[in-house]
Amino acid sequence: MNLEKELKEILIDKEQIEKRVKELGAQITEDYKRLLGNLVNEKPLIAICLLRGAIIFLADLIREIKIPLEYDFISVSSYKDSSRPGEIELLKDLEVSIEGRDVLIVEDIVDTGHTLNYIKENLLSRSPASLKICSLIDKTARREVKVDIDYVGFTVEKDEFLVGYGLDYAGRYRNLPYIAALKSEMLERSESKT
Ligand code: IMP
Ligand code: MG
Repeated sequence: MNLEKELKEILIDKEQIEKRVKELGAQITEDYKRLLGNLVNEKPLIAICLLRGAIIFLADLIREIKIPLEYDFISVSSYKDSSRPGEIELLKDLEVSIEGRDVLIVEDIVDTGHTLNYIKENLLSRSPASLKICSLIDKTARREVKVDIDYVGFTVEKDEFLVGYGLDYAGRYRNLPYIAALKSEMLERSESKT
């Protein structure tokens, strides 16, 4: 694929992703069986996917979760230029009510932490029974606000811009089956859509 010339290195390959997604699914299954007890069938878990980066992760993850669940989507945009640091705008809201429900946010990557912090506060104000977060990647180098992530696929300490497996740069690279660092000469961003 020609795209490969634009990549610095593959950090997480397809097999590593598959293996880790299976492990996360198994752990989530066990935890929610315990948390929900007899209600596991009556009041299924709701997985909330942050558009658009997390859809590939969501699609793989939910097939490794072996209890009933529903899912819905939410979309926000974040502006990372210095004039509006951490400012988040809700672009598309959920279609379901999460009041009294057990909610698992599914995200692709946590960087500064502002996006998840916003989503978490926003969803908590709707009174869910419980709220947990699962992120495929925890990129720690540029964290500005603390976020407790209940399930982390991979921790990346390098300050690289990552693409693939749903992660994009300017809308591209989402279809790569692995996660790679983009060459720095490809980057020229001030605003990014999640
Ligand atoms: P945060 O608000 O800085 O934590 O940013 C989170 C959002 O920024 C994620 O949902 C991604 O959409 C995007 N993002 C942050 N870092 C990367 C990256 O390395 N590659 C692709 N998208 C990223
Ligand atoms: Mg995102």
